[in-house]
Amino acid sequence: MIDLRSDTATKPTPEMLTAMAAAEVGDEQLREDPTVNELQRRAAELLGHDAALFLPTATMANQIALKVLTRPGADLIAEDRTHILVYEAGGPAVHSGLMSRPLPGIAGRFTPEQVRAIAAGADIGQPPGIVVLENTHRSSGGRVWPLEDLRAVVETARELGLSVHLDGARIFNASVASGVPAAEYGRLCDTVTVCFSKGLGCPTGAILAGPSETIEQAWTGKFLFGGALRQAGVIAAAMLYALDHNIDRLADDHARARRLAKGLAEAGLAVEPDATETNFVGVAVDETAAARQKIRDAGVIVGTLRPGVLRVPRISG
Ligand SMILES: Cc1ncc(COP(=O)(O)O)c(C=O)c1O
Repeated sequence: MIDLRSDTATKPTPEMLTAMAAAEVGDEQLREDPTVNELQRRAAELLGHDAALFLPTATMANQIALKVLTRPGADLIAEDRTHILVYEAGGPAVHSGLMSRPLPGIAGRFTPEQVRAIAAGADIGQPPGIVVLENTHRSSGGRVWPLEDLRAVVETARELGLSVHLDGARIFNASVASGVPAAEYGRLCDTVTVCFSKGLGCPTGAILAGPSETIEQAWTGKFLFGGALRQAGVIAAAMLYALDHNIDRLADDHARARRLAKGLAEAGLAVEPDATETNFVGVAVDETAAARQKIRDAGVIVGTLRPGVLRVPRISG
């Protein structure tokens, strides 16, 4: 069976496992794990911020960011199929008391005008809201925000007094595809999440980066959400290995995805090769469940990108 459901199907390589086994460790909760500390230092630098926090998952990183940057009753403005709105079990409402303001988007992107229109409807006395951007954008098929488009939305958010969180679970895919350093995207936003268990190949692990003061508050969130660990250097070693060895090679994943998209399009499937910017291939079908079963019967498991579109990511290995 070939598993093409998700880029999370990556497994640690022998070299990554060797790095994990050799990790120097300490008590992460006490900030005494040297490998975690080194990871946080490196990640902050790469993401254009002065601090970063290691967390077990990107979902936890996103939820902590929302909690730190908002107050209950605020609006959360995001594209309507953003991970934070669709796949995090209602976390923004449950944990932070936020009101979701989903915006229709194109390729996962929305415009300053759309943000203005929502902000104009905010009631007097309502706490200032937050804009969440996702780059690359999962449900649109790994589409990349051009830096200038992202900057325009961020500038409008700032003008309106809104915070900005970047769900950059796949920010290194965006960076490799666009040639824009991750730090350029990251430093525009108050906080940025990165996930290491996708194309970067780690078994688990995420980072939340931001200004020192914000990350100090995020430490409280780490305890609140149960994400404060002990000898986490074993995981941080895998993440450091990924920073050193697995970023540049994301370009190979993108090239394979593009080749797969072209092949599927040539075979007559409803695929847009030009929309295959990173490591997802979206295949439009009439009946998602039936199509998945038919493909499974032929020995390949695929996922769902959004209703009516199959997800066929291209991953290494
Ligand atoms: C855009 C995006 N954000 C966040 C996450 C959450 O990642 P994790 O599984 O590490 O919680 C995912 C996972 O699929 C994702 O695609």
